[in-house]
Amino acid sequence: MPAATTAPMDRLQIVTVPQPQRLPSFAEDVAAGLGASPKRLNSKYFYDAVGSALFDAITQLPEYYLTRAETAILREWGWEIVRALGNPVEFVELGSGSAAKTRILIEETLRVQRALRYSPIDISADALRASAGSLVESYPELRVFGYAADYFSILDTPHLRRSDQKVLFMFMGSNIGNYEPREAAALLARIAALLKPGDGLLLGADLKKDERDLMLAYDDAAGVTAAFNKNLLVRINRELDANFDVRRFSHVVEYDETSGGLHSYLRADSAQDVTLGQAGTQVHFEKGERIHTESAYKYSLDGIGEMARASGMNVARTWQDGAHRFSVNLLVLAS
Ligand code: AVJ
Repeated sequence: MPAATTAPMDRLQIVTVPQPQRLPSFAEDVAAGLGASPKRLNSKYFYDAVGSALFDAITQLPEYYLTRAETAILREWGWEIVRALGNPVEFVELGSGSAAKTRILIEETLRVQRALRYSPIDISADALRASAGSLVESYPELRVFGYAADYFSILDTPHLRRSDQKVLFMFMGSNIGNYEPREAAALLARIAALLKPGDGLLLGADLKKDERDLMLAYDDAAGVTAAFNKNLLVRINRELDANFDVRRFSHVVEYDETSGGLHSYLRADSAQDVTLGQAGTQVHFEKGERIHTESAYKYSLDGIGEMARASGMNVARTWQDGAHRFSVNLLVLAS
């Protein structure tokens, strides 16, 4: 029988980390991105409460294979993944979102160790509070130390507290794909700097595949991904006192097979002028002009190995789903 367990809320702590001064605010970033040529917006801004809910809806779409493929890998190989570094381990997850898939690894871990410490970092404070709260309710042996922050605010500062156990860092769901290949290697190098010998980084990376499957996954029939993309303009209207006519923008997706870059855009269907009240500026759009809103890079297994080496790590193990659509990789410090 386990000893009397602590109440769920006593096992949950969420720290809201202030944005470091040198990180631009939402208003500054939007003004700079829409003032640039070509126009761009950072995909991290998709995830307000509505955007996080729309992303959760995307993961249920028949066309969006990524979440199902990664979940299948964790269901089949989770037992091996959580034992790969030796136990006990603790988890630190970057971009935890709803943490639905993390549950599989938490359950597998609690079969081989008595307790588990889990530190999720997510930019959406709402998603973090909801997911962390339900996790401590579900697992009496779990302690959660959540950080509501941009990953960089955590990676760069001494905020992240850890025990003397081995740490399995997690960067799942192909979130790495949002970074340009060069930035991706730089981000992994910063994670590598936090690793001690014996620690590991579990990296979920989507694999290169037939262009048609990719285009459908990012431009679904029900239009949920289009709504997810356009919600960024709705958010800008609401939070930055802007007046985008969201109905006059279209969701556009392109794939570049060589780089593996799947790029999403919002295209102005007619010429228009938009006022950004909060930033005190005006932005002009030509008919057909596009805003780049997201990159979702697809990797080959060789490409993942190269990225790992470029950041001072090696791929110790790779697990794939049966259809080889997605990969989960264990990276360790290069010896
Ligand atoms: C959450 C960044 C992994 O790139 O596949 C889904 C976001 N964008 N559909 C991805 C997304 C369009 C997703 N990530």
